[in-house]
Amino acid sequence: MSKCKICNDSVMTVIPFGRMPIANGFLNQISSDEYFYELIAGFCPKCLMVQLEKTVAPEMMFNDNYHFISSTSAAMSQHFSEMAEEIYQTVSSKESPFVVELGCNDGIMLKHLVSKKINHVGIEPSKNVAELARKNGVNVLENFFNQDTAAEITDNYGHADIISGANVMCHIENLNSVFEGVCTLLKEDGMLLFQDPYLLDIIKQSSFDQIYDEHVYYFSGLSVSELAKRHNMQLVDMVHQDVHGGSMRFYLKKGNSNEVSESVSEYLSQERALNLHIIDGYKKFKNNVDKICYELKNSLMDIKKAGKRIVGYGATSKSTTLLNYAKIGTDLIDYISDNTPTKINKFTPGVHIPIRSHDIFLDDNHIYTLLLAWNHKREIINKETDYRKRGGKFITYFPEVVIE
Ligand code: TYD
Repeated sequence: MSKCKICNDSVMTVIPFGRMPIANGFLNQISSDEYFYELIAGFCPKCLMVQLEKTVAPEMMFNDNYHFISSTSAAMSQHFSEMAEEIYQTVSSKESPFVVELGCNDGIMLKHLVSKKINHVGIEPSKNVAELARKNGVNVLENFFNQDTAAEITDNYGHADIISGANVMCHIENLNSVFEGVCTLLKEDGMLLFQDPYLLDIIKQSSFDQIYDEHVYYFSGLSVSELAKRHNMQLVDMVHQDVHGGSMRFYLKKGNSNEVSESVSEYLSQERALNLHIIDGYKKFKNNVDKICYELKNSLMDIKKAGKRIVGYGATSKSTTLLNYAKIGTDLIDYISDNTPTKINKFTPGVHIPIRSHDIFLDDNHIYTLLLAWNHKREIINKETDYRKRGGKFITYFPEVVIE
């Protein structure tokens, strides 16, 4: 039994996926020395945090060859422009406002504050991605965030009005150290806001592909509230976001006597109604996941048996869990179309499906497309009108397999 990374209590296993390759570990060529680790999600009944039982060293995931670039989706660009506007509205009336973003990626959010001349620091440990942010005019500190980095920023720039992070908190194993850093860096009346895939959505939709090496934690309001208390902070608001298959933006302040929005108690009640505060809430999850994998694989095999070809759409990190757990490889999928230049002509981790440019998808005459980037379904279906007009169908699988 593994120990909770937040409170050191014993973690109860929710779902063991077995051997997995690194989710963003795209290969230049198929090789036999690919790195694998044991992917297991577990639940801590004491601090209520769902988490990976075994983790991969950050250097194995976030290195100079990191392939996750935020600005590959028009919808995400719009989302982060709105997030920047919200932050701007919160800080603009303050005297010399200062904003810090953890994991600023290519600057998709901060570049909007650059153009509004807001003093800021973006923290980004992946060199290649940090370079992209710099090209967007972002002031980048190329490092991991912890107590030391927080102290360095405070010495150089003062305390922050806002510390934000999108799809980053769930990546950081030593969250206690991050929260200590946040407490050092944040002004007394400052706000920490972060968003990550929301546990309630994952459990409701059985969207198990959110579980992979980079996502060490799967946050609920219940677990974030406990985490906040541990660091003398308070969860003051929760706003659901329709991105990454269902995310939650959590707002935290220092102390324990802040005004708390009603949405916090509403979400906490919904989470309790699903039993996410006890292991019972997670007992059906594995069965649901196995049922989806079984039905999806059968559907793909039926299509192949009928002599048709299937391609994938979006070489997402999350698809590494789906493809490897359900054992969907080149026997079923010819290639995966992706618009990220650095992924094209590489092979997906573990199952080694080739990645091809979107031009190849457009020129192809296949009928079936497995929508691996299902979180961008609306954007992709709107974009692929020609494919749909010639009879092309998309296959999706959460909460059940649908071919439409
Ligand atoms: P993303 O949504 O970031 O998921 P993950 O966090 O699991 O990696 O990844 C989307 C992937 O899909 C990314 O590689 C870019 C690709 N993509 C396309 O190829 N075309 C598109 O129209 C969109 C929206 C994404």
